[in-house]
Amino acid sequence: MARPDLLAGRTHAVFDAYGTLFDVHSAVARHAAAIGPDAVALSELWRVKQLEYSWVLGLMGRYEPFWTLTERALDVALAKHPAIDKALRKPLLEAYRDLDAYAEVAGVLERLRAAGLTTALFSNGNPAMLERAVAASGLGARLDAVLSVEPARIFKTAPAAYQLVLDRLGAAREGVLFFSSNRWDIAGAAAFGLDGVWVNRREAPDEYPDLPPRAVVASLDAVI
Ligand code: LAC
Repeated sequence: MARPDLLAGRTHAVFDAYGTLFDVHSAVARHAAAIGPDAVALSELWRVKQLEYSWVLGLMGRYEPFWTLTERALDVALAKHPAIDKALRKPLLEAYRDLDAYAEVAGVLERLRAAGLTTALFSNGNPAMLERAVAASGLGARLDAVLSVEPARIFKTAPAAYQLVLDRLGAAREGVLFFSSNRWDIAGAAAFGLDGVWVNRREAPDEYPDLPPRAVVASLDAVI
């Protein structure tokens, strides 16, 4: 069921990348047979560590490209699962560069643009990483802008990161509808004053009760 109420008065539909447009677990899934029974645990830890590093660096006032954090996170995840063949490091990183987009993404972006909205991706990913992911997924022609937090040299959920969205797009706060599958990202956007749609793809329990989403959907095509 479409949600025209969410889109009324909006000028910009802005999307988180990892987990929202791109399936972060598709890298491990491609090599699941070679990885063995720890594949799901490896993928979860890889993601958790990647995010942990972004927040820890941010609190220290330091910045490193998100790709570097992605590599370090895989290294620690592999170290915690010694049964997994270390030779998989390279193919896993290659797969992460070219993650699968979720099936509904291309159609949703097309319909949003047909409805007159500007579409943008906004991510912790550094520009080179995002460029490659967008090219690999074939979404480039359907995104009007690809924004990285890199110019702010701080990761989400810092307000300075979300400020980039308004500055780079020339958008007003209330014109932006932000989509993320990451509940912490929706909380960060809400703290900054952006309306968020939580794409709760994995039926996760709600968090951050004082920083709620405007809506919760199971996938992006529930909106348009
Ligand atoms: C993003 C990750 C962190 O910003 O989901 O794309």
